[in-house]
Amino acid sequence: MALVSAKEMLQKAKAGHYAVGQFNINNLEWTKAILLTAEECKSPVILGVSEGAGKYMTGYKTVVGMVNGMLEELNITVPVALHLDHGSYEGAKKCIEAGFSSIMFDGSHLPFEENVEKTKELVAICNEIGTGECADPKECKAIADLGVTMLAAGIGNIHGKYPENWAGLQFDVLDDIQKLTGEMPLVLHGGTGIPEDMIKKAISLGVSKINVNTECQLSFAEATRKYIEAGKDLEGKGFDPRKLLAPGAEAIKATVKEKMEIFGSIGKAE
Ligand code: 13P
Repeated sequence: MALVSAKEMLQKAKAGHYAVGQFNINNLEWTKAILLTAEECKSPVILGVSEGAGKYMTGYKTVVGMVNGMLEELNITVPVALHLDHGSYEGAKKCIEAGFSSIMFDGSHLPFEENVEKTKELVAICNEIGTGECADPKECKAIADLGVTMLAAGIGNIHGKYPENWAGLQFDVLDDIQKLTGEMPLVLHGGTGIPEDMIKKAISLGVSKINVNTECQLSFAEATRKYIEAGKDLEGKGFDPRKLLAPGAEAIKATVKEKMEIFGSIGKAE
């Protein structure tokens, strides 16, 4: 199946009261592990690519080529969107050109007027070919009215591990945002380490996409460390990268599956 826009995927998730996971990719192993797990779980999935990861993989065209090749060679039948994560205006344009099926423009650091202008321009470009996302906590309604496909609003979530004294998600804010923005699918960033009950409550209040990155990185690193600490790389051809990276890839699969179960997207690929 070819890449699809995340728009329809998220509208379905919203109507079905579940969320689609965005799992960030860094290389071939991660992409393969996530796609195989989505296929096994019959779950729609969003592959997230930060600008840094895009650069690391040598550029957006390489990413598009790799993902499209895998969709075909691995016979992936579930809906897959390729999505720019926290993109700049220039990065978003490059990704659209390269063939990404979805973009997130992060204009949250810009003055609001400039955020609106740039978002408008990107929405217009995307509408011609069909993609789009935008983030801003306070002026959500104004941004939603620009015609974005999904909206990431800060509700106390952060990237990476949550500190001990984290106050939790601000559900009253989420509720207000959803009431103001109506049917707009909302996005929860920083999916790593959010307890299951909070995830479920967020979904019930309008979240249809949840981003996970650090948790896959931690699982990968832990499994790889265990492999090396057990001296497995020194046994036979254990140093072969295909063997060396295999435990990490399996660990990513387990994390992705666990998240898809919590998000409720398993079996929702139709
Ligand atoms: P975590 O790394 O905290 O899972 O956040 C991922 C994310 O929100 C990507 O935009």
